Amino acid sequence: MNAQCIMVCSGKGGTGKSTVSVLLGACLARLGRKTLLVELDSGLRSVDIIAGVYGRTVYDIEDVLCGRCEGAKAVVPSPLYPGLSVISAPYEGGAVEAAPLGRLLTAMRPYFDFILLDTAAGMGAPFTAASTVADKALLVLTPDPVALRDGKIVADRLLAGGRPQSAVRLVMNRVRRESFGKNAAVADLDECIDTVGVQLLAVIPESRVLQLAGANGTVPPAADPAVVAGQAMAKRLCGQRVPLTF
Ligand SMILES: Nc1ncnc2c1ncn2[C@@H]1O[C@H](COP(=O)(O)OP(=O)(O)OP(=O)(O)O)[C@@H](O)[C@H]1O
Ligand SMILES: [Mg+2]
Repeated sequence: MNAQCIMVCSGKGGTGKSTVSVLLGACLARLGRKTLLVELDSGLRSVDIIAGVYGRTVYDIEDVLCGRCEGAKAVVPSPLYPGLSVISAPYEGGAVEAAPLGRLLTAMRPYFDFILLDTAAGMGAPFTAASTVADKALLVLTPDPVALRDGKIVADRLLAGGRPQSAVRLVMNRVRRESFGKNAAVADLDECIDTVGVQLLAVIPESRVLQLAGANGTVPPAADPAVVAGQAMAKRLCGQRVPLTF
């Protein structure tokens, strides 16, 4: 194995990066792809709860990046999603820098098919470190003008580094029928794509079920429309052709 590394970012906070990271990790694992999810959002942990590893973490990403422990010691298998493992963020503090993150990736790539980096909002240290080491970036945005405008700034930054256009993809999250149209702030999906200027990978609908499952640390049912959309997103990342339905 030689894991592909995908960073998940947004610009604006609260667009669903962590939720989509766990959903994607779980769906990749379901396809038989061993996946490691690394949470880089120090102090604002949420992946540990959504992926069910809360209380099982002894070492976190800060311990690994500081050299206090080997990467392998911080890897915790998700009890909810077989095939998905997590390295949690610390409760507080810790700087994320590209060089130690790169060393962690080099050590982990042989053992996984995918490594997902869930970054913090904005373009601070976690974003910069992740964008230095990641092969691909997923921009998780909600269908509102502020998220889209911030997403455009992030996309431009990612592409300015000489990354190919195809290595930055858009995931529209929390989409409802009412998100678009004459009475909404955004006309349609095309407007989202045009504003951000990157290719669309997936549309994840608004789902109360997904939100509750994340809050409670439980597995959302496979038939939930957001999970179905997550599974399609995972298949596309594995090279399968799955039509977009929305
Ligand atoms: N598709 C969805 N349907 C319903 N609720 C969602 C969906 N995606 C995310 N949420 C909810 O939105 C809120 C923010 O999600 P999340 O914590 O994943 O965002 P984030 O981008 O990681 O935030 P931060 O910028 O703070 O890291 C949570 O309550 C989550 O359950
Ligand atoms: Mg988050």
